[in-house]
Amino acid sequence: MGKEQKSPDHVAIIMDGNGRWAQKRGRPRLFGHHAGAKRVREIVEACPGFGVKYLTIFAFSTENWKRTQTEVSGLMSLFRRYITKEARALRDEGVRVRFIGDRLRLDKKLQALMDELEVLTQENDKVHLTIALNYGGRDEVARAVKRLAQDVAAGLLDSDTVDEETLPRYLDTCVLPDPDLVIRTSGEARISNFLLWQSAYAEYEFIDTLWPDFDAELFGEIVDRYAGRDRRFGSVDTAAE
Ligand code: IPE
Ligand code: IPE
Ligand code: MG
Repeated sequence: MGKEQKSPDHVAIIMDGNGRWAQKRGRPRLFGHHAGAKRVREIVEACPGFGVKYLTIFAFSTENWKRTQTEVSGLMSLFRRYITKEARALRDEGVRVRFIGDRLRLDKKLQALMDELEVLTQENDKVHLTIALNYGGRDEVARAVKRLAQDVAAGLLDSDTVDEETLPRYLDTCVLPDPDLVIRTSGEARISNFLLWQSAYAEYEFIDTLWPDFDAELFGEIVDRYAGRDRRFGSVDTAAE
C-alpha cells in the first residue's frame, strides 16, 4: 500500500437533514434543528479520540435567509440559546471556538455572544471548533478580494506579488489549515457553497444519515475510512515523497 495511515487533522461537516428528520416524525422543522444542535457536543467531544484537531461545522449559509421568516428567526434564537448554554462547557473542555461567515448581517445580540465566546475560549487548544454562520464560500472570497484590493490601493500590498498564498490570508479561515475531509449528511451530493477555496484537495464523504442521527460511532467509521484513502495531490504516489 505504501500510504500513510493518518487521521484527518481538519474535518468539516455540512450538517444537513434536520428538516427531513423532523418531517419524518410529523414535527415542525425547528424540532429537527434543535435535535441537530444537540448532536454537536457529542461530535466535538469525540474529536480528540479520533485524532481530529480542527472541526468546522456549517450551521447557516448565506442562502439560508431564503427560508421562511419563522424558520430563520427560530434558527437565530437557537444559535443565541446554544451559545449561551454551551459556553462554559466548551471553555471547560478545552474547545477553542471561532466563527466564520459575514457576521454583520446577524443581529447585534447574537454578534455579541459570538464575540464573547471567541474571547472566552481563546486560550484553549484541545479542539478547534469553527462554526460557519451566515457563511458562503463565494461571499467569503468576495469579501477577501475586496480587502485585498483595499490593501493594494493603500499601498500595503504589491499586486505583482499576489499569488495563491495571498488570498487565503484574507479569508475568514486565515488561521486554519485546509480541511482534509468534508462530510455531508442527508444523502445530498453537493457542497452548497461551503469552503470552496479551502476544500480544493479535501476528501469528500456523502452519507445518507440525517444530521440529528449522526453519532460518534458513525463519525469514527468515516474517520477510519479516510485513513485508508490515498491522497495524491496531483502527484503519482505520495509514499514516494
Ligand atoms: C440543515 O438541515 C440545517 C440548516 C441548513 C440550517 P436542513 O434544514 O437543510 O434540513 P433538510 O435538508 O431540509 O432536511
Ligand atoms: C447547507 O444545507 C447549509 C447548511 C447545512 C447550513 P442546505 O440544506 O441549505 O443546502 P441545499 O439547499 O440543500 O443546497
Ligand atoms: Mg438541507
